[in-house]
Amino acid sequence: MSLLYEGKAKRIFTTDQDDVLRVEYKDEVTAGNGAKKDHLEGKGRLNNLITSKIFQYLKDQGLESHFIEQLSDTEQLVKKVEIIPLEVVVRNIAAGSITKRLGFDKGHEFEQPLVEFFYKNDDLNDPLITDDHVKLLNLANDDEIATLKEAALGINQHLKELMAKMDLRIVDYKIEFGRTEDGQIILADEISPDTCRIWALDSDENFDKDVYREDRGSILDVYQAFLTKLEDVE
Ligand code: TMP
Repeated sequence: MSLLYEGKAKRIFTTDQDDVLRVEYKDEVTAGNGAKKDHLEGKGRLNNLITSKIFQYLKDQGLESHFIEQLSDTEQLVKKVEIIPLEVVVRNIAAGSITKRLGFDKGHEFEQPLVEFFYKNDDLNDPLITDDHVKLLNLANDDEIATLKEAALGINQHLKELMAKMDLRIVDYKIEFGRTEDGQIILADEISPDTCRIWALDSDENFDKDVYREDRGSILDVYQAFLTKLEDVE
């Protein structure tokens, strides 16, 4: 089957079914829009297992996504969608770019989860954009923007519950959505330590890519520790 798309961390292939794609997780890790990159044997497997488990958990909670099934250690089958070029970021606790942009102390807990839109465009460095920009760029209309925010907050509730069961906190994360052929908007892409900040319950010990971004040790060890906790969830 043919390669449809290759990104920094995944390859997407067609299958013999028009509306089904095969995703292969790569062993590449990047940060800072590709400024820092490495090949880490086994990283693709960890992200595939983790994403598959999280999407299956969300499915079990009644939440629809593109996820169909895990195929192998590094592959999954997903529904074909047209990805909306928006990085939908949900923040429960201040960390990363919002501490620099708005001056919040790292670790500040927001009273309400915050949803932000970043325009997925490598040449522009994925800028933060407003709802009006989303409309101006024809990425989504008013109803769809409301759907994206509502879905992001619903997913947040489930992720907070899941992480609490693992004695962890979901600080922030990035999700992406896609449109099915009939125009329905569903969760797509991945949810893994590559796309989330995850801290221990009572410290800011990381279980995520900040360990790589900040050269603080082996992400293979950290992602494996996260997977072990995820596998222990009842
Ligand atoms: P930020 O603090 O850099 O804005 O990132 C917020 C969250 O979104 C963090 O968990 C990392 C995730 N993220 C991605 O997964 N991909 C990206 O390209 C960006 C900018 C953030």
